[in-house]
Amino acid sequence: MKPLAQMADDVLRTPDGRSKTAISREYAAAWKAARDAGEAPEIGTASPPDMPARPAQPELLDPRDVPRRKPGTPEGRIAILHAVAHIELNAVDLHWDIIARFSDTPMPIGYYDDWVKAADEESKHFNLMCDCLEANGSHYGALPAHAGMWRAAEDTANDLMGRLAVVPMVLEARGLDVTPGMIKIFQQAKDKQAVEALDVIYAEEVHHVSYGSKWFHFLCGRDNLDPTPVFHNLVRKYFHTTLKPPFNEEKRAEAGIPPDFYWPLAEQSSG
Ligand SMILES: [Fe+2]
Ligand SMILES: [Fe+2]
Repeated sequence: MKPLAQMADDVLRTPDGRSKTAISREYAAAWKAARDAGEAPEIGTASPPDMPARPAQPELLDPRDVPRRKPGTPEGRIAILHAVAHIELNAVDLHWDIIARFSDTPMPIGYYDDWVKAADEESKHFNLMCDCLEANGSHYGALPAHAGMWRAAEDTANDLMGRLAVVPMVLEARGLDVTPGMIKIFQQAKDKQAVEALDVIYAEEVHHVSYGSKWFHFLCGRDNLDPTPVFHNLVRKYFHTTLKPPFNEEKRAEAGIPPDFYWPLAEQSSG
């Protein structure tokens, strides 16, 4: 088996979505098999690309130029599935990137176990969204997508605590806030396949947020830092807008994100 950082680099350099997730799942299975056999495989080092390889389609647009469609229409629901597929593909790269990019920072092996598992789940999520799109006569790449998704990774390319604060603990936590509303849209449309896929995503994303919180607190503890103000400072530094309520307080708590982490960063009500 190759060193893990090399495997991560391979995934990041694979452009096609289904090919990227296939190699991602294959490497994750190899890692898990070795770990289940009691081995501690080599992590190694890598020089991952600044931006991961991506397919020629979808066209990437500034979020303001991505057309909005009504969720009550079939086109609107395809647009939602397409946007989620794009988020999931980005998430595959983000989880392998946190392994490759910071491979020179010594971390316990459990850190790698967690992110390999998360990357494997994101790969499954992307495939599920592609299956739903295809069942609705569309496919990933058929619509334009959000261009800014890799921004958080670029901004935190030299700061592991910043990466943990912004990616799993802010962006993926935001997924916990918005997914129940999405599930409702597909329940109303009686799209059973999409409801089941989004239920899987919702259940598994809680763990990704919790891995973020776990390793953020680990690094704070290793450097004897107070986690709450450190989190606030990093999010203000790297995340360029305020956080949007309503928050899914229950799932955030389950994932180890207490209210005093996010409320002070929320937009002020206009009252
Ligand atoms: Fe996901
Ligand atoms: Fe995730």
